[in-house]
Amino acid sequence: MKKDKVIIFDTTLRDGEQCPGASMTPAQKLEVAHQLKRLNVDVIEAGFAVSSPGDFESVQQVAKTITGPVIASLARAVPKDIDAAGQALKPAKRRRIHTFVATSEIHMKYKLKKAEDEIIRLAVAGVKQARKYTDDVEFSPEDAARTRPEFLYKVLEAVIDAGAGTVNIPDTVGWAVPEQFGALIRGIRENVPNIDKAVISVHCHNDLGLSTANSLAAVLSGARQVECTINGIGERAGNASLEEVVMGLKVRQDLFGVETGVKTPEIYRTSRLVSKLTGFLVQPNKAIVGGNAFAHESGIHQHGVLMHKNTYEIMKPEEVGFGESKLVLGKHSGRHAFLQRLKELGFTLDAKQIEETFQRFKVLADKKKEVFDDDLAALAEDQLSEIPQRYQLVYLHVPSGTGVIPTATVKIIGPDGKEVQGTATGDGPVDAAYKAIDKLTGFSGRLTDYVIQSVTSGKDALGEVAVKVERKGRIEHGRAASTDIIEASARAYLSAVNRLLHEPARPRTKQNNP
Ligand code: KIV
Ligand code: ZN
Repeated sequence: MKKDKVIIFDTTLRDGEQCPGASMTPAQKLEVAHQLKRLNVDVIEAGFAVSSPGDFESVQQVAKTITGPVIASLARAVPKDIDAAGQALKPAKRRRIHTFVATSEIHMKYKLKKAEDEIIRLAVAGVKQARKYTDDVEFSPEDAARTRPEFLYKVLEAVIDAGAGTVNIPDTVGWAVPEQFGALIRGIRENVPNIDKAVISVHCHNDLGLSTANSLAAVLSGARQVECTINGIGERAGNASLEEVVMGLKVRQDLFGVETGVKTPEIYRTSRLVSKLTGFLVQPNKAIVGGNAFAHESGIHQHGVLMHKNTYEIMKPEEVGFGESKLVLGKHSGRHAFLQRLKELGFTLDAKQIEETFQRFKVLADKKKEVFDDDLAALAEDQLSEIPQRYQLVYLHVPSGTGVIPTATVKIIGPDGKEVQGTATGDGPVDAAYKAIDKLTGFSGRLTDYVIQSVTSGKDALGEVAVKVERKGRIEHGRAASTDIIEASARAYLSAVNRLLHEPARPRTKQNNP
C-alpha cells in the first residue's frame, strides 16, 4: 500500500534566518536554496518579502532560479505584505503565499488590539487577496497552540472557504507538549467541517526542547506538512529541526507509516552549509548532524557495533551523508574539471570569483595531495560575500613560539586601493594579527566568538575559522578557510569587520499589527 506523504516545508531562509546573528546575504541564501533543492524539500520559504529590500530580493532571486520545490514568501494578512510577496514570487514556476494573523487571546488583546470577528475578517481578506497571485495559499493562525480551540476551528473553516489549501498550526512560543499538541490536531480534524479540503501543517518552536516531538505527535494525528529548519535554527530556541523530523519519520516508519521526499544523504552537507553561512556551529551531541552523532566511545558500545552495527546504531551514517566528503581533485586537475565540480556543488560564481577560487585551489592542491568536495566548497564560499570588501588581506607574517612575544606584520589594501602595513604584538598570534588589523582599519569592536575546525581530516586539512564581532550592539560573523589557521583567522576577522563597516543591520518590519 502506498504510504502517505508528509510535505517538508523548509523555513531556514525565513524563520531560521530570523534568529539574531544568523542573517545571510541574498547570494548566501541562494546557495542554501540550491542545496535545499538537492535535498529535495517540497517547499522553500525563501523569506518575508515585505520585511526589507534584502528579503524581497532574496525571495525574488530564489523564485527566479530554483525550480522544483514550491517557493513561498511569508506575509502578514495585510494588503501591502501580500502584494510584496506576490510581486517577489512572480518569477517562480510554483509559488505559495503564506499569510498569517495571530488568533490567541493574548496576541489579539495586547498585540493586535482586535476582536475575534475582526481577526476572521482580516484572515479571510488576506487569503482572498493572496489567491489573486496564486492558487497555492497557506494560512497560519499565529500562536495557534494557545488559541481557544473553538475560535481556532472557526478561523480555519473560514480561511479554507476563502481558498487556503494549507492550514498551518504554529506553536509560536514553544508552549505545547506532544500529547496535547497531537490532540489539538485531532480536534481540528474532527471539528472543522471542510478540513478535508486542506492540508494540515504544523510549525513548532523549541522553547521547551519539544519541537521535534510535537511535530511528530502532530503527524501521528494526521498533519501532513511539517515546517522545519536545518539544524533547528530559528527565533529564540529555534524551530523543529528538519533532519530530526525527517529521520524520525524514516527510522520509525513502523510507527508513522508515512514517507517524505527528502534525499537524506544530502542532510549532512546541508547542515554544514547552513552552519558555515550563518556562523552557527552545530553542537557535537546534536541529533543526526552533530560531530558525535555516530561516534561510539565506550568499549562496550564499540564492541557491540563491531559485532553488529544495529546493536547501537539505529541509522547508518551514510543514510544522512555523514562523514562523506568525496575525493574530487588533485594538483593535476585542470580548470575544466574544477569548474564542472563547482557547478555540480551548486556554486554560481562570476569570472573574477572563479579565477580567485581556482588560484587558491591550485595553491591548496600543491600543499594537500587530495582536494575534497568540502575543501572546494570552503574555498568557493570564501568568495560569496556580496559585502564590498573594503579591506582585504595582502600579507601576513606572525612569528610565534614559546618564549617569543607574538608580533604580527599585516598588510592590507584599503577602500582607496592603497596598501598599508602595520605591526602589533598580542597574547598569541591571532590576537596580534587582530590588533594589527584594528590599527590599520581604525576599527574598534569586540570579538565575541572564535571557533576553529578542520574542513576535512588529516594534518594538511584546511582549517576553517568562524568569528563573531560586535560593534555598537550589532553582531556580524566572518568565516574563512586556509591551511594556515592564522591566515584563516585574519581573513575571517576582516570579513566580519567589512560587514560591520558596510551597512546598518537590515531593518525589518516588525511582525505585528496587521
Ligand atoms: O512561529 C510562528 O508562528 C511563525 C508564523 C509566522 C508561521 O513563524
Ligand atoms: Zn515561527
